[in-house]
Amino acid sequence: MIQTAKIQIAALLNPLTKIPVQDLQKTIEKPKQFEHGHLAFPVFALAKNLKIAPPQISAEIAVNITELIKKGQAPFLEKAESAGGFLNFTFKNSYLQEIFFTAMAKEKIGYSNVGSNKTVVIDYASPNVAKPMHVGHLRAAMVGQAIRNLAASQGYKVIGVNHLGDWGSQFGKLAWAYLEWGAEYDFSVKPIDSWLKLYVRFHEEAEKNPEIEHLGAVTFKKLEDGDLEIKKIWQKIVEDSLKDYDRLLNGLLKIKHDAILGESFYTDKMESAIQLLKEKNLLKESEGAQVVFFDEKENMPPCIVKKSDGASIYATRDLATAIYRHNIMKADELLYVVGQDQSLHFRQVFKVLEMAGFEWAKDCHHISFGLYRFEEGKMSTRKGRVILFEDVITDAISLVEKMISEKNPDLENKELVTKQVAIGAVIFNDLVNDRVKNVLFDWDRILNLEGDSGPYVQYTAVRCKSILRKYGRPAPAQATKELAQEEERRLLFQLLQFEDILAGAYKQYRPNILAQYLLEVCGSFSHFYHKCRILGEPPEVESSRIALVAATEKILVQGLKILNIDAPEAM
Ligand code: ARG
Repeated sequence: MIQTAKIQIAALLNPLTKIPVQDLQKTIEKPKQFEHGHLAFPVFALAKNLKIAPPQISAEIAVNITELIKKGQAPFLEKAESAGGFLNFTFKNSYLQEIFFTAMAKEKIGYSNVGSNKTVVIDYASPNVAKPMHVGHLRAAMVGQAIRNLAASQGYKVIGVNHLGDWGSQFGKLAWAYLEWGAEYDFSVKPIDSWLKLYVRFHEEAEKNPEIEHLGAVTFKKLEDGDLEIKKIWQKIVEDSLKDYDRLLNGLLKIKHDAILGESFYTDKMESAIQLLKEKNLLKESEGAQVVFFDEKENMPPCIVKKSDGASIYATRDLATAIYRHNIMKADELLYVVGQDQSLHFRQVFKVLEMAGFEWAKDCHHISFGLYRFEEGKMSTRKGRVILFEDVITDAISLVEKMISEKNPDLENKELVTKQVAIGAVIFNDLVNDRVKNVLFDWDRILNLEGDSGPYVQYTAVRCKSILRKYGRPAPAQATKELAQEEERRLLFQLLQFEDILAGAYKQYRPNILAQYLLEVCGSFSHFYHKCRILGEPPEVESSRIALVAATEKILVQGLKILNIDAPEAM
């Protein structure tokens, strides 16, 4: 929305600076402080070119523009002032109001079409079957879904894939263990628990009796060769796991995938990938294995493509996967939302693709993220147990249940709201942090209604909704009176940034830009709300302020939605 204003300024500066309009648009920025105006043009590069001191140049241009304003040739501007090497522009309130409320009339606010005709394939929340999901998968799910929504806001065609970890030697072990001991376990209620127990038991037994490792490997070979009995067991593992993901990922978190294509899907596509590397002379033999060596400056161990027993590994499957995503899914961008512990793996895979001559390797990005830190340290509790995805959500729900029954026991739709607030709190706490950093998991902060939390943003939206309900009529689409109070102007200017925020958050693959922005909007709204009376003011003031409240509500709700958080009607 503020783009419209940028274009006006660029058009104004072009004849005065001889800088092309497009370059100007890229240079014009938001001033660090609101007091300095709405947009700023840094003149340093221009000054360097002309060999004139920056303050002198900016002062000269300011005089010229002030002249234009006086002559009525820049009716949208209040003033242009020089401040050192910057030229600061302040728009007329009426102009900002006009462009803002016009943009707000659109159904999808802040959306752009820069990505139209382009496809992004995003790989996120891809769990490993037969194991319960841990908080790492929770992070991959939340970050991935947010980036997916951001990509959609930029007009891209998005294909979200669940790259299930459903292939590898562990399935031989599991199938063998199932044939051996399966009858002792119950697979009817929580099958994943039983699969996990079988897996643990296999490893315990193998310590005493290493021979069974070999039996596991033989069973995996049978699976790879298409043995029907083993394949049936493998299918049961996958189906049991998929049911669990459906319940957690889709049911609780509303994570959407467009395709579930697990590692097993690529078993018949690996040979051609390996062949291709061979043709390009990239494969070398090392201790019986086929590997790709990297240049020393890369500082990476070689990438194994085929083990000495002929079996493929995780990296082989990812090579075949990337080629499939590019060739068949027609991906222009390939994003992998996976924890930073897999950084080396992705650097290797992307480098091999580059060495194979795929120019599109540069469009592959590992969107990595840090760990959750609980009080005891890393991702495990005192008992050494991995923290499970489901436990985090269940804890959040019971904490919010308690909170609501203390603060608002008569709330309507209590169950639904509890879920929305609890899950929203967990998601927001994750996304408000820069994803590459580790996140401290602190329930007090996560659920604090007055802090930088998801519930705080939801609560601000609820407050807007309640004002709009009390107003009792449809909110006007435009503010007819000038919103001239300091708090009104600040809020309006903040809301005007929404479009830029979405674009920037996607460009950097950083949902925290949007989450932080929503907090700032809440802060500005709170100042406005405490300073400016809304209901009961003279009709034109009241309706203009209501229009601002309605716009705030829309942007908060839409921003939350992009982060995959629901906004309750009341809480
Ligand atoms: N299944 C893997 C894990 O849980 C993540 C898969 C990520 N995607 C990929 N294409 N490698 O660690």
